[in-house]
Amino acid sequence: MTLLGTPLSPHATKVMLLGSGELGKEVLIALQRLGVETIAVDRYDNAPGQQVAHHARTITMSDPAQLKALIEQERPHLVVPEIEAIATAMLEQLEQAGTVRVIPTARAARLTMDREGIRRLAAETLGLPTSPYVFCDSLQELQQAIDGKIGYPCIVKPVMSSSGKGQSKIGGPADVKAAWDYAMAGGRVSHDRVIVEGFIDFDYEITQLTVRALGEGGQIETHFCEPIGHVQVSGDYVESWQPIPMAPAALQKSREIAKAVTDNLGQGHDGKPSGLGLFGVELFVKGGDVWFSEVSPRPHDTGMVTMCTQWQSEFELHARAILGLPVNTALKSPGASAVIYGGVNATGIVFDGVADALRVPNSDVRLFGKPESFTKRRMGVALAFDADVEVARTNAKLAASRVKPRAASENPQAAIKKPPAA
Ligand SMILES: Nc1ncnc2c1ncn2[C@@H]1O[C@H](COP(=O)(O)OP(=O)(O)OP(=O)(O)O)[C@@H](O)[C@H]1O
Ligand SMILES: [Mg+2]
Repeated sequence: MTLLGTPLSPHATKVMLLGSGELGKEVLIALQRLGVETIAVDRYDNAPGQQVAHHARTITMSDPAQLKALIEQERPHLVVPEIEAIATAMLEQLEQAGTVRVIPTARAARLTMDREGIRRLAAETLGLPTSPYVFCDSLQELQQAIDGKIGYPCIVKPVMSSSGKGQSKIGGPADVKAAWDYAMAGGRVSHDRVIVEGFIDFDYEITQLTVRALGEGGQIETHFCEPIGHVQVSGDYVESWQPIPMAPAALQKSREIAKAVTDNLGQGHDGKPSGLGLFGVELFVKGGDVWFSEVSPRPHDTGMVTMCTQWQSEFELHARAILGLPVNTALKSPGASAVIYGGVNATGIVFDGVADALRVPNSDVRLFGKPESFTKRRMGVALAFDADVEVARTNAKLAASRVKPRAASENPQAAIKKPPAA
């Protein structure tokens, strides 16, 4: 699909984002720049992406009836999932009926919607190296899995969760029950199922952004971005940088794994290699060994760094690839990102210190505009580039630390600095 139209006209190219958080917002901005008519869907009103789209819709995306009704009403050319918790079986039905194209494919959305589909595909179908794992439906099964196969230390995660929610590390027998209870409380849906994984004592972990885009002859080509290093605290990303220096053999293995996974997820229900778009492949590296961890068939949070490091950010790459346009994954400069957390539970917060943050050399800030802040909710990100990636990391963290969200006590308009009167 390379024929682009005019938004809000009968010849519009229409794209619907399912999920409109900070990642969706940037994809929507990239689509807007190409004159695409955009529909931003989320579970709550005024989500970040809804603020920059032509149309905002609020539904329960995990409800198949609501999802079907909305897609049939809006008739987008493409449906782009931004989150995992979607009625993916309905997307598969609609895709097979020819009602809509799902990015990259409805099958990929289904397989990556929980940890089980993608882990079994990677380890059992594709034979890729992963941590040892067992799926468990009760505390007893969890204990048996640890005693019989996994050992200590290990990590327990709800099968449906992201950003480390409900995830914990088990050091010894005394931690098992607490980890089970924590996973039950932290899962996204009421689902008594967890994965227990052997702990991989990696040297570092990376995200290998991988793009499937159309080449000149109409064939699908795979492009790789420079590897992104990141640090996770309690399963949630706090900083990332690009490129991370890697031994050539480890980088090659990482890309072979990324190619194998994305080739498979790029196959539609008919087995044809139809899926286009960007993927975030998460890998653990120790010396020359590489383990597959998981994959997002969409832009990745650690990839926000590409807003300051690549000529085309991961969001622009996704937008172009899904529209059938060529992509350029080249690095512009090394750089880094650091997360700005809410720090408070409040609605309509204000941000102190943004000017100070922007005084950090070669820095930039994105505030997502989320209506409600929680202590551990990601409300923004600081970016910094530098020829030396370590300098960029220091500066991104410094800029992030200067932004201080707080509950609003006054109208922020009143506090905007004005130039002195002449
Ligand atoms: N088996 C493991 N061994 C060692 N560390 C692990 C293992 N599994 C997860 N981790 C650590 O926890 C982090 C989060 O795990 P994972 O990516 O599976 O969770 P998630 O909730 O999907 O996170 P996100 O949504 O942020 O990607 C990993 O990036 C890694 O740092
Ligand atoms: Mg992850």
